[in-house]
Amino acid sequence: MSTGAAFVPTIDDGVLRMRSIRTRDARELERVLLDNRPWLQPWEATLPGNQGRWNVRGSIRSLLDQAAARTALPFILEYEGALAGQLTVSSIQYGAVSSATLGYWVAQSVAGRGITPTAVAVATDYCFRTIGLHRMEICIRPENLASLRVVEKLGFRYEGKRDRYIHIDGDWRDHYCFALVQEDVPEGVLNRWRNGNVDESVAARD
Ligand SMILES: CC(C)(COP(=O)(O)OP(=O)(O)OC[C@H]1O[C@@H](n2cnc3c(N)ncnc32)[C@H](O)[C@@H]1OP(=O)(O)O)[C@@H](O)C(=O)NCCC(=O)NCCS
Repeated sequence: MSTGAAFVPTIDDGVLRMRSIRTRDARELERVLLDNRPWLQPWEATLPGNQGRWNVRGSIRSLLDQAAARTALPFILEYEGALAGQLTVSSIQYGAVSSATLGYWVAQSVAGRGITPTAVAVATDYCFRTIGLHRMEICIRPENLASLRVVEKLGFRYEGKRDRYIHIDGDWRDHYCFALVQEDVPEGVLNRWRNGNVDESVAARD
């Protein structure tokens, strides 16, 4: 196991398993990404000025390098034993900021089963309780209603709009940004959601 993978825990929640991405995921990951092109493309980060094909092996290596440097937690999401998506905690900063940002996708065939909110809650609880981070951020295009539902369900607070913030699907796109800090969730993100204690109105946009 690379040092990168060693930084990423394996966490099971029923039929959902979250585990580190591995170099040997490349072939299966590429297959799922190709099968889901129209589903994922509108929301996928792109490199400005780069029309080239993405390189799955290279991006896995880069994620594992970031994990080795303790600046990312690159999870593969397995649903009922099959690779179903990714969730990556990235830009982990320690010290006076102690914050990170979270991104995710699942295959269209398993959408609508609550996989993503569960994985976001589990990853955020892990970052707050085990790594000691203080804040978790999620930024979403205004058009992405399914992803906006994820932050609403979990009660991430709306912080504001960042104009032309991230290069997605070939251009700079506006994003709504949401965050939680540790003090928002004394009972934990997953428990608060499962216990029905989320105030979804905190995610409302202006
Ligand atoms: C956004 C996304 C990660 C949500 O994941 P998920 O595991 O399906 O999350 P949920 O099960 O909580 O569903 C969230 C919402 O998606 C919508 N949804 C449900 N089933 C759906 C389906 N089959 N197709 C499209 N949207 C669906 C619903 O509005 C749902 O909200 P609801 O539960 O209040 O009805 C997923 O839709 C996805 O991977 N989309 C493409 C990539 C992407 O947008 N990534 C995020 C970039 S910020």
